[in-house]
Amino acid sequence: MIPRVLWITGARGLIGSYLFGQAALLWPQCRVVAVGRPELDLTEHTRVRDQFLADSPSAVIHCAAISRSPICQADPALARRHNVDVTRHLAELAAGIPLVFFSTDLVFDGTQGHYTEDDSPNPRLIYAETKVEAEQIVRTHEQHLIIRTSLNYGHSDTGTRSFNEEMVTAWRQGRTLKLFTDEFRSPIAATETARAVLELLERNATGTVHVAGTERVSRWELGQLLAARHPEVQPRIEPSSLRDFTGPPRPADVSLKCSRAEQLLGRPLPRFRDWIAQAEPLR
Ligand SMILES: NC(=O)c1ccc[n+]([C@@H]2O[C@H](COP(=O)([O-])OP(=O)(O)OC[C@H]3O[C@@H](n4cnc5c(N)ncnc54)[C@H](OP(=O)(O)O)[C@@H]3O)[C@@H](O)[C@H]2O)c1
Repeated sequence: MIPRVLWITGARGLIGSYLFGQAALLWPQCRVVAVGRPELDLTEHTRVRDQFLADSPSAVIHCAAISRSPICQADPALARRHNVDVTRHLAELAAGIPLVFFSTDLVFDGTQGHYTEDDSPNPRLIYAETKVEAEQIVRTHEQHLIIRTSLNYGHSDTGTRSFNEEMVTAWRQGRTLKLFTDEFRSPIAATETARAVLELLERNATGTVHVAGTERVSRWELGQLLAARHPEVQPRIEPSSLRDFTGPPRPADVSLKCSRAEQLLGRPLPRFRDWIAQAEPLR
């Protein structure tokens, strides 16, 4: 069902901005409300409730989060306040209407790869722990849809939010990127994520659904694909291995299987390599 009023939290973030743009375009009959900073801090629960009652949304897509793992790792209490408490409050407010919650491939420990929705999460990072906690809360909501996605490619308002923007900026600054040949994700373009999620919402899908690229790609391969798209910044990459990494835990293979999404959508999700081959390069 197409909602009459759709709340999108984090609508100025990477994925939220694609959702906002596509919902406004595809669903002209729907009032799409961008909820978030700077107008409204979602941790201010009284103001959020007042705004919710005033807008009276008929569906909520909750994208807002502290999505940078290092920030969560450095301040777990801040991460829980934003990623867990805010989600709990929104789930309470959204009782009786569909609630779409964005989670991550990083809920898995990365020892297995090709994870399905039936595999058990085992988070290794604070960011992922907060997502697992939030998923558990959202699962008690009658009309929940939990979307687990992977690295999203796209263009953001700040030019700093996506992995591709980070890499191209580094190359522009003349830096050489060391990229793991043994760390795997399932990258997808944010425009494809947004399209799939809106279709799933329209089809009243519920439960947990993986929405990601249907190809397992290493950081190194991702760097090669991007480098080929951006010869103008003279990309420089060097292969490296997780075995030599000494920072916080990095799950090795959190690639996702997306057959449930494909079945619900009635179409395949793209392989990242195919998608990027036909896309206009982002500047
Ligand atoms: N992008 C990916 O590759 C990826 C992969 C897996 C999962 N996800 C998940 O998908 C969702 C969307 O990701 P994204 O990449 O679009 O994230 P993003 O670019 O970091 O955007 C998140 C947005 O939420 C806002 N926000 C955070 N806390 C807020 C608060 N207390 N009040 C109001 N707004 C707040 C942020 O505002 P500020 O900028 O002002 O902080 C930002 O606009 C997130 O839940 C993320 O964890 C993303």
